[in-house]
Amino acid sequence: ELLKHTPDLTNIPPLQRFGFAKKRINDIFEKFKVFLEEMDTFIGNSFIKDTNDLHGEHLDTQNMLRQIESIVQIIDRDHMKVAFFGRTSNGKSTVINSMLRDQILPSGIGHTTNCFLSITGVDVQEPYLLRPDSPDKKNAQTIKRLSNSLSKECLDPNAIVRLYWPKTKCALIRDEVVLVDSPGIDMSPDVDGWIDTHCQDADVFVLVANSESTLMHSEKSFFKRVNAKLSQPNIFILNNRWDCSAGEDTATRDEVRSQHQERTIEFIVDELGLMTRKETSERIFFISAKEALKIRMGQASDLAQGWEERHKEFEDFELKFENCLSASAINTKFHSHALRGRDIANSLNESLVKVEELSFNYRKKCEEERKRKEQQLNFVLKESEAIKHHFKKKIESVGSHVEDLVSDALRE
Ligand code: GTP
Ligand code: MG
Repeated sequence: ELLKHTPDLTNIPPLQRFGFAKKRINDIFEKFKVFLEEMDTFIGNSFIKDTNDLHGEHLDTQNMLRQIESIVQIIDRDHMKVAFFGRTSNGKSTVINSMLRDQILPSGIGHTTNCFLSITGVDVQEPYLLRPDSPDKKNAQTIKRLSNSLSKECLDPNAIVRLYWPKTKCALIRDEVVLVDSPGIDMSPDVDGWIDTHCQDADVFVLVANSESTLMHSEKSFFKRVNAKLSQPNIFILNNRWDCSAGEDTATRDEVRSQHQERTIEFIVDELGLMTRKETSERIFFISAKEALKIRMGQASDLAQGWEERHKEFEDFELKFENCLSASAINTKFHSHALRGRDIANSLNESLVKVEELSFNYRKKCEEERKRKEQQLNFVLKESEAIKHHFKKKIESVGSHVEDLVSDALRE
């Protein structure tokens, strides 16, 4: 019934589709829950509750209710997650800042991000952060404070600091998108630990590469591990710092670009076996995160030649990224809930068929019992009639005999 009224999701902006789908699926499960509760009450008041083989064994509504409640809770926590990876100083934090359109995360030369950092949009006025070892909300209002707090207090590269940023300040995090920044993949040998801890529920991975060099061994081996551990990961590759090619002549620039493009396609298609050549070419972009951030912060006065084109490519990346992110999150997250919901509905259906069959047999048994009792009653009635009749005659004959005796006696 609910699905009949679902409007065409393509008419809704990509990132809002997730929230919309979340509400729809939540409504369906809530209705399912109400139905199960009604069923549970009905059974609690009916003869079924006293009939062990009907209730306990075949129709465990309480257990189904518990399963539905746990799905509803998981749906409530579901969000779209994007993880950014790349070597130190490739510009991961700068890319995130450009997408958020503000200088939020610390960035700079050298090893800047020294642990995982997630950014979630919340309905608050002031930003705050949570360290992994404390439930206390730390003030994160200025970039300097955030930078100090991160560099001093969180040194385990596998740990995650959670930054909560007011939704009103950034459009990207308004619609349940969580962005995860990471330390350089060349900084930790525990790549598997990273993937297990931070990537299992990631919908999209963004590899921030450096367009001044080719894809490195550390970058390739990281994504080989991601590909081995997760099924069909969605990967975007950003060749960052493309502004550094502005000084080159067009021919050289084109040559470098097609060389990077070709090597990246080879890696994704031949080594990872993830996508076709055509699909892969839609996932590779040549951008300048630093320029994009400047443009978005109104500081675009001294940009290198060709910045308009690079910024257009950055916007093109964002568009394709948003479409991919919402489609992937809806598919992977809600699809599994929908399948579980369908399994519960199927087993409820099977139970109800079984209960119907068993209650039909039970009714037949009761009717046979009633018939037997009726026959017994008829027999008893007949017998008592016969007895009554027999005794009436006897009494009458005894009565007339006594009367004869009395009149004989009187005569004598
Ligand atoms: P770590 O956190 O240390 O791993 O580095 P990161 O990958 O987060 O890099 P970050 O964003 O901190 O950027 C490193 C330096 O590169 C900073 O000084 C940025 O300003 C600079 N940078 C980032 N993107 C670009 C770009 O597109 N062009 C140029 N020229 N510089 C960039
Ligand atoms: Mg960083």
